[in-house]
Amino acid sequence: MLLCSTLACAQTTPIKVGLMLPATGTYANLGEMIENGFKLYVAEQGGKLAGRDIQYFKVDDESDPAKATDNVNKLIKRDQVDVLVGTVHSGVALAMAKAARESNTLLIVPNAGADAITGAMCAKNVFRTSFTNWQPAYAMGVVAAKNGHKKAMTITWNYAAGNESAKGFVDGFEKGGGKVTQNLTLAFPNVEFQALLTEIAAQKPDAVYAFFAGGGAVKFVKDYAAAGLNKTIPLYGPGFLTDGTIDAQGAAAQGLTTTLHYADNLNTPRDNAFRLNFAKTYKTNADVYAVQGYDAAQLLESGLKAAGGDIKNRDKVIAGMASSQVDSPRGKFTLSAAHNPVQDIYLRQVKGNINEMKGIAIKALADPAKGCKM
Ligand code: BEZ
Repeated sequence: MLLCSTLACAQTTPIKVGLMLPATGTYANLGEMIENGFKLYVAEQGGKLAGRDIQYFKVDDESDPAKATDNVNKLIKRDQVDVLVGTVHSGVALAMAKAARESNTLLIVPNAGADAITGAMCAKNVFRTSFTNWQPAYAMGVVAAKNGHKKAMTITWNYAAGNESAKGFVDGFEKGGGKVTQNLTLAFPNVEFQALLTEIAAQKPDAVYAFFAGGGAVKFVKDYAAAGLNKTIPLYGPGFLTDGTIDAQGAAAQGLTTTLHYADNLNTPRDNAFRLNFAKTYKTNADVYAVQGYDAAQLLESGLKAAGGDIKNRDKVIAGMASSQVDSPRGKFTLSAAHNPVQDIYLRQVKGNINEMKGIAIKALADPAKGCKM
């Protein structure tokens, strides 16, 4: 017996969300925070988005670009998800964006900053709720130059995120009259920093800019302090250097200045409510990764609402997402034509166990992406 028409049936089946995130390795905690943020928003809506139940499918991407295409195809081909949400690592996300583009699967990137995803590779069906690697890095370069530093070195993992972050810092710092004398790199996810720290000590720049995140950021900040460099050469970074890591970094993180689209004491009603519910639900404090996951669910809901809950009505879903103003805990943001957040970048300083907001480094900063044709 036929119980519903095709359209009505489609409206009552759950929306299949494919979460492709790291559950192991140096970025495992970041993946968990994103997933928890996404699920928190859905739970706050009574377990539904725009009246539709949500069914989750999960793959641990291990932050391994070599496995990324196989992994994303498990969600696209085997599980036939309606929407992909992922991931943390830029190299893995680039493979996801390619697969999403080729299969026309809706993709929301809740962290990875690879510039090309909302640059040369941009696509109608690809959205991001986080940042481009350039955005916080550029702001940090501007601030470091304003602080009077003339000669800086950068140190990063040698993959898209590290290299693009260093490039963003160079853009901001050199625009302000500084000079980056050397970019030091090591392979992801290595944490043998000693030889590079010795090089920094020998060259004595006025400042160092570092891109590391997760477990690698904990080790780097501790090693920098253990080498005594924090006493003589100020360390700067995008906020990933200290977000979600301060407890493990301890005294070594105190006073570090970073730039990011989130801070731990924004003290707005929206952020306070989010942080309270997150802490109650998961018994830990929210961080930027949790916010980006939470906002991925909000963005999906905007698209679904615009399409009356019908995820298959792709044009309406995309139009609803592209034009939405996301009421994020970080502050409201809109999306650029290439589907990347246009957002305030905060200046923060570690004090106790929080990244304390010291002001807005750059207001409504958009990525300067060129070459995006949808
Ligand atoms: C990235 O690979 O894009 C990334 C990873 C961790 C934090 C920020 C960016």
